[in-house]
Amino acid sequence: MALLDIVKYGDPVLETPGEPVTEFDAKLKRLVSDMFETMYAARGVGLAAPQVGVSKRLFVMDCSGGGDPEARVALVNPVVLRVEGDQTGDEGCLSFPGVFFAVKRSLRAVVRAQDLNGEEFEFDGLELEARCMLHETDHCDGVVFIDRTTPLKRELVRRKIKRLQKQGRWV
Ligand code: NI
Repeated sequence: MALLDIVKYGDPVLETPGEPVTEFDAKLKRLVSDMFETMYAARGVGLAAPQVGVSKRLFVMDCSGGGDPEARVALVNPVVLRVEGDQTGDEGCLSFPGVFFAVKRSLRAVVRAQDLNGEEFEFDGLELEARCMLHETDHCDGVVFIDRTTPLKRELVRRKIKRLQKQGRWV
């Protein structure tokens, strides 16, 4: 297992739709295992492949922080099937260190995906799990969370990042 580098906003891979996963092989299992390790080390609850520079449609998630084995899940080729209700809460992203703001998301999301053997399953998530699955599925589509806020808030975040880039604190 290995810790992977997490790419930050500004890297084009984050705004490029990922390719569908077609090979359910040892290489995929190693990538997923490394992504889990990287996510736990960064204290995140979700991590998508484009965030480690791999332009593929998959993500890992564990909203229990490692405490509940059933919460540890890899979703390959995720598709949002159904959403229900609304929630608004602060959201962050490992590719935007130090940036948090309120994002409105669905309260419940049912996502269909494949597991590491290519078997289809559905994951029914509420609250944080719904928020996380929608955020990470967006990453698979080349969409980042500042695309889910108002144009004004997006501009403020972009300016903050530009300042950090100039100071060499965003690389
Ligand atoms: Ni993210």
